[in-house]
Amino acid sequence: MSPSLSRRSFLEFTAAAGGLSLASCAAAQSRRRTSGARLRHAGIGVGGMGSTDLDQIRAHAQVDVVALCDVDENNLRSAAERCPGARLYRDWRELLDKERGNIDSVHVSTPDHMHAAITLAALARGLHVYCQKPLTRTVNEARAVSRSARESGVVTQMGIQNHSNAAYDAALQLFRARHIGRVHEVHVWTDRPAGWWPQGVGRPEGQDEVPATLDWDKWIGVAPLRPFKKDTYHAFRWRGFKDFGTGAQGDMACHLMDPALWFLGLSDPLRVRSVGPRPNDETYPLWSTVHYEFPANDWTTRGPLLLTWRDGGKKVPSDLLKELGLEQIVDNGCLFVGEEGALLADPYGKPALYPAEKFGHIALPEGVARNHWFEWVEACLGRGETSAPFEYAAHLTEVALLGNVALRFPHETLDWNGGKGRFIARPDADLLLGAPQRTGWEIAELS
Ligand SMILES: NC(=O)c1ccc[n+]([C@@H]2O[C@H](COP(=O)([O-])OP(=O)(O)OC[C@H]3O[C@@H](n4cnc5c(N)ncnc54)[C@H](O)[C@@H]3O)[C@@H](O)[C@H]2O)c1
Repeated sequence: MSPSLSRRSFLEFTAAAGGLSLASCAAAQSRRRTSGARLRHAGIGVGGMGSTDLDQIRAHAQVDVVALCDVDENNLRSAAERCPGARLYRDWRELLDKERGNIDSVHVSTPDHMHAAITLAALARGLHVYCQKPLTRTVNEARAVSRSARESGVVTQMGIQNHSNAAYDAALQLFRARHIGRVHEVHVWTDRPAGWWPQGVGRPEGQDEVPATLDWDKWIGVAPLRPFKKDTYHAFRWRGFKDFGTGAQGDMACHLMDPALWFLGLSDPLRVRSVGPRPNDETYPLWSTVHYEFPANDWTTRGPLLLTWRDGGKKVPSDLLKELGLEQIVDNGCLFVGEEGALLADPYGKPALYPAEKFGHIALPEGVARNHWFEWVEACLGRGETSAPFEYAAHLTEVALLGNVALRFPHETLDWNGGKGRFIARPDADLLLGAPQRTGWEIAELS
């Protein structure tokens, strides 16, 4: 097993991060496993990324896909053709009720706003869950899911497949060799959203006829009801809308900030400050820059550790690039800056040490790749552990989502009390840690 992914390193992370108590670490070590030799699986949200998740999970020789759910009949049909005999549902609540005793696990690959409701219902039924990133749409939901996962003792994994890539493993090996010395700042950035999905736009006027193949009311689910608009929300383009998605940061930080939290074992941030535009009432802005401060630890200088998130094409500042001997840098990445140099963790390419002249003699390690989906299936069947369980996933998601809260208060520093899950003396910001619940769709764990 790669050193980056062993259970031990997760426990090391959690101990370093202070994110979990020793008792909860012990509970995490004694996960409830599936008793049968095969995993009876159900897919919820089986178009888009959910289609990939379904194909990856069903490729495991000990998985039987027995049920599928999607609010879009076309996506459901397409998945059903690949899973003969699976029972089909348009409503995940019906699936969970009717399949009680028939299924061991689910994957949840719906838009972000439905992750918590479905995942919490599955956890309450003792099902193993693979949930897409971000784990939830709000901080309060992330905390509720983490608590529930811990209590249920089932096997969980968030869909950050880059966490299991050779690229991140190679970067971790370089990091642990301490070439760059103690770290004082981290830069994380993405080219989203421009060219991917709309942000900085208002709510479209009017309404279009709902296609006969789509159950719009169930697509809306826990969010406030609104009229259907063609090619606006479903599919994929819901991401920038605050009621459904988490914007560029929520979408990409779980991939790109992952090395920062994981390699450095960062605990709860001390404070967060946005210096970008304030979102409008409807969508996240076209770009953002959010500064975080984290407590120092053994991997950092005396601190606090500074982490900056940028999206919308904002990248590492040019003076830093120049200092590192670089003219340009990749479109998505995580750059650790230490006393002796810098390390790039690139989810889609090889890691790099800068300045190149200084580190040219160091051979890049071959990272070890694992199958993120199979790792979860294997753990459900009693073999090994997952590398992105919900306890870690909730922490990573929360850090990303705190950035979204900060966007609403440009140029104000928000002090965070991680123990309480509240800002310090900012009840106005606390209000944004959750979301109003739609009547009839209330989530008990959040009330
Ligand atoms: N890990 C990755 O690299 C990666 C990549 C893309 C998307 N994602 C994540 O996957 C999730 C889905 O994103 P997407 O791009 O596939 O979105 P999408 O809109 O393309 O697909 C969502 C699917 O879920 C279905 N769906 C919607 N609401 C549902 C409900 N209430 N019950 C059942 N099915 C429902 C839709 O019909 C569709 O089939 C998001 O959380 C996203 O962040 C992860």
